[in-house]
Amino acid sequence: MSRLKTIAGASLIALSLAVTAGVYLSWQPAIPTLDNHDTQYFSHAQIAKGEQLAALGDCAVCHTAPGGVRNAGGLAMTIPFGTLYSSNITPDPDTGIGNWSYPAFERAMRHGIDRSGRYLYPAFPYTAFTRTRDEDLKALYAYLMSQPAVRHQPPQTALHFPFNIRPGILLWNWLYLKPGAYADNPERSAQWNRGAYLSEGLGHCSACHSPRDLLFGERGGSRHLSGGVAEDWSAHALAGGNAPLAWTEDDLLDFLRRGYSPRHGVAAGPMAPVIHQGLGQLPDADLQAIAHYLSSLQPASAEQPSAVALNREAEQRTEPLASPGARLFSGACMACHAQEKGPALTGVRPSLALNSNLYAASPDNLIRVILEGIAQPASPELGYMPAFRHSLNDQQIADLLAFLRQELAGQAPWKALKQRVSEIRATLPAG
Ligand code: HEC
Ligand code: HEC
Ligand code: HEC
Repeated sequence: MSRLKTIAGASLIALSLAVTAGVYLSWQPAIPTLDNHDTQYFSHAQIAKGEQLAALGDCAVCHTAPGGVRNAGGLAMTIPFGTLYSSNITPDPDTGIGNWSYPAFERAMRHGIDRSGRYLYPAFPYTAFTRTRDEDLKALYAYLMSQPAVRHQPPQTALHFPFNIRPGILLWNWLYLKPGAYADNPERSAQWNRGAYLSEGLGHCSACHSPRDLLFGERGGSRHLSGGVAEDWSAHALAGGNAPLAWTEDDLLDFLRRGYSPRHGVAAGPMAPVIHQGLGQLPDADLQAIAHYLSSLQPASAEQPSAVALNREAEQRTEPLASPGARLFSGACMACHAQEKGPALTGVRPSLALNSNLYAASPDNLIRVILEGIAQPASPELGYMPAFRHSLNDQQIADLLAFLRQELAGQAPWKALKQRVSEIRATLPAG
């Protein structure tokens, strides 16, 4: 009995020590509020630079609710443990970041801790933003503080237990956050380093394009940029992806600038705003640097098929009316996706035989594009892709997918297609 008491007593002491240590380790001081906000001076050049950096960081993509005021927060992000809401990052002193000093802003961007000392959830991609250099963080701060202040209190984030215990993020940070600005790789050119700095830092490409582990941390090493998931879309690998033609620097530049590469496809789903509100705003030299960096991640392969050869092979494999999928394709898709050159009535005519999504492990992106269409193009000149959810049933879409995958792309069949179409259809909002 006394032995049991000793064990119980020891466990109790150990537990309270652990709790005390946890509280002590996770405690972060509040940074005093800024009262002289009006007297801060920023140059026009600094604000303009900050605006571009904010575009690269997709701040407004996440910090603007549908139909809401830019950067005033409140966008809901539903995750398995509840719903997260983005914060108001306009300079309103009460509901936004108006009374944050630069050191408070820097701590949030580098360490994921807000002005009051509260840990922020890593849905805010500070693990990448931490790579940003001081002069760029200062420009970003100058831009954010110079926007119109908007008084708007976003809904409270309340995740399920134990994810509602914010100090627990300390442990997550210990595993996944390596704070500090990007350091140049001396063996690489200035352009390569610029591209790596922009992609790995504010660009946070890996937030979507790297796989995540069970604790939702990004996998690093050889898995870095090897393909991930974003809002139920596959974000293809950027380091040697499933594209049938390797991405050249020119292809990447085209894609980053306007969301379309004739040799690969368009930027749909969550990639569209990354181009439209983000990369599309950057100066060409920066896009060239990103394209240069990303093309260096492509595996070196001696023999590359040409686009012409791939399109010709696809033509030889396909027989216009031979299968139900081929018939549907001729009737519903060919008008806009025919391979022969001809005047496009509206927008571009992506050659589907080269589309990365046909070569992906999962049919999900294609299913989404066919069901939902593309209503918000990455740039207006691309035009719109109509939604087929009301005109094609699950079996017809499955037939169409089988045609695209096996006949057009010459790949091994995807399994259980009809079931997958109906599962994805069920997740779409009604109407
Ligand atoms: C992928 C979505 C996403 C992107 C992109 C993003 N944020 Fe956020 N950010 C969030 C979320 C979600 C929160 C709230 C986290 C929480 O409640 O713990 C947040 C919180 C913040 C906060 C803390 C505000 C406060 O009051 O505590 C700041 C500052 C911030 N973001 C700045 C930025 C800036 C600057 C950019 C662009 C460079 C940016 N964010 C891009 C999702 C995002
Ligand atoms: C919010 C998530 C998200 C972020 C952030 C993001 N991407 Fe993407 N990206 C995607 C998705 C999803 C796709 C697939 C789009 C499709 O199939 O139409 C994609 C596709 C791409 C493709 C085409 C790949 C292929 O083989 O077809 C490239 C290139 C690309 N992204 C580059 C980038 C770069 C560079 C960055 C960082 C500056 C970035 N992405 C940031 C989600 C994202
Ligand atoms: C009215 C013209 C039109 C029709 C009909 C049409 N599309 Fe499209 N499609 C487009 C345009 C334009 C785009 C590029 C849109 C953009 O990115 O803004 C596109 C893009 C796509 C993409 C590229 C998605 C990506 O992420 O790279 C796929 C796949 C696709 N369409 C499949 C189909 C299929 C299958 C059909 C037949 C069921 C079809 N389309 C019918 C115009 C059309």
